[in-house]
Amino acid sequence: MNQRRSRPVALDVYDSMAEAYAAEIEKNPRSVYYERPAILRLLPDVSGRRILDAGCGPGVMMDWLLAHEAVVVGVDASANMIRLARERVGDAAVLHQADLEQPMPFLADSSFDVIVSSGTLGYIRDWVALFSEFHRILAESGCVVFSVGHPCSEYTLNDTGDYFSTELREYTWRGFGAPIVVPCYRRPFSHMIDSIIRAGFCLERLVEPVPVDDFADVKPEEYAKLMRRARLLCMRVGKQGREL
Ligand SMILES: C[S@@+](CC[C@H](N)C(=O)[O-])C[C@H]1O[C@@H](n2cnc3c(N)ncnc32)[C@H](O)[C@@H]1O
Repeated sequence: MNQRRSRPVALDVYDSMAEAYAAEIEKNPRSVYYERPAILRLLPDVSGRRILDAGCGPGVMMDWLLAHEAVVVGVDASANMIRLARERVGDAAVLHQADLEQPMPFLADSSFDVIVSSGTLGYIRDWVALFSEFHRILAESGCVVFSVGHPCSEYTLNDTGDYFSTELREYTWRGFGAPIVVPCYRRPFSHMIDSIIRAGFCLERLVEPVPVDDFADVKPEEYAKLMRRARLLCMRVGKQGREL
């Protein structure tokens, strides 16, 4: 679990589908009416706060944060995603092309109030190392808000008979241009929570979101499914000892 890979498992697929992803993600119902509202509900007031978007992709969340007067830094492993994010936000945010599985010495200790990470942590194998790095760069009052695939549905969708291990799985995505196979880690729920606590955080909020009503207007069948099946987990974790 502690070994750090030399190359991010999902780098090539995100590099190759970056344009298609950027074109789709702003209007994709799962993002607009499901994941993003859940993330936004967990975020504290962002105005004037220093925020890292970890796995920023083409910068949709950074755009929202900038519009709400946050001071924004984005990190993503994909050069194409960073280029698209730059096109979207211009010079308003600082961007780094970097692997979240490696230490990030270019980010100073205690230099962020909030870290937000939407749809990215499933690509990171070692959460203790990642959250320890998040802990280092967050101020004492800092928190992390993130979304990840729900461990129950990820397991039942592809039951390998070994719930308790962290496994690299492959999923075929069809909503972003040509079908593409995306590798992603599935881990048991206890590993998630244990890693977060071992890195020095407390669980503050945990949400198994359902879509907002507008989803039903654009994709009624998928809306009905998501109202009954947990596909996403969102959490806010704060540094141990921080005042709420
Ligand atoms: C599902 S996309 C989410 C992008 C953005 N947060 C959003 O909500 O639209 C996942 C992103 O994680 C990035 N990523 C995957 N593995 C990474 C790693 N090890 N380090 C940094 N970024 C990574 C990908 O390049 C991609 O942009």
